[in-house]
Amino acid sequence: MIDAKVKITLPYLFEKVQRGEPITWLTCYDFPTACLQEQAGIEMILVGDSLGMTMLGYDSTLPVKMDDMIRHACAVRKGAPNVFLVGDMPYMSYQPSNEIAVLNAGRFMAEAGCDAIKLEGGVAMAPRVRAITDAGIPTIGHLGLTPQSVAALGGFKLQGKSAALAKTIADDAKAIEKAGAFAILLELVPDRLCKIIMERAENCIIMGLGSGPHAHGQLLIYHDMFGLYPKFKPKMAKMFGNAGEVILNGLKSYHDEVKAKAFPARENWFGMQDTEFDALKKLLG
Ligand code: KIV
Repeated sequence: MIDAKVKITLPYLFEKVQRGEPITWLTCYDFPTACLQEQAGIEMILVGDSLGMTMLGYDSTLPVKMDDMIRHACAVRKGAPNVFLVGDMPYMSYQPSNEIAVLNAGRFMAEAGCDAIKLEGGVAMAPRVRAITDAGIPTIGHLGLTPQSVAALGGFKLQGKSAALAKTIADDAKAIEKAGAFAILLELVPDRLCKIIMERAENCIIMGLGSGPHAHGQLLIYHDMFGLYPKFKPKMAKMFGNAGEVILNGLKSYHDEVKAKAFPARENWFGMQDTEFDALKKLLG
């Protein structure tokens, strides 16, 4: 099932950027999906704390714990041994102090075999980025719509619409890059802001999610791509297939066939030879 493939490394990603080839990045939280994503040639996987909503059914990402993240990241690594695997630092796993941030980032590397971590925040989080990169852990920043601060941001909506707010995001990007981040994810910012941040970046890969076509690569939430999240579908997400509908129809057919005694059919069970069956009856008296 899993193809023997080239291991995706940091130099590989920078070479792609040099060649002007966009990088593909998706969220993933489980083994079978990871197998499929690696087979499809996806280069980066994010084990996002969005798993709190997509997999665990919470209303936000805030209740997600490090142990949840590690368990899912381990499963994904087993299914996709060659992708560039990014562990997403959950709420309060890095905000309190540099020491806490380094210890938790280290867990992604040591326990789950991640290649990098991602954390949300700008200037205020630059010391965390510096501490984690100084510990030898490749780090990705996340700016724009940052779901862990959704209450402060006023909801899931476009960020950096005004010149003043756009400048704050551009300044945040510079601070995170200077602190050592090798990449920054811009989520839901205007395309022209994304382009400016790319042009100002010196040695930093700029990835986009709902931020236009200019970025060095694109991230999408897997569940949004395939109609697998029942609560809402963000406008920025394109649906590449309706797996949710396929599964629902399959479930309804199963339900109907069991009710109608059409399943299981003869090919779905195993029989027993007459001699063995007679012997069994004797043994049972
Ligand atoms: O947790 C996640 O999947 C994320 C994306 C929303 C970028 O951080």
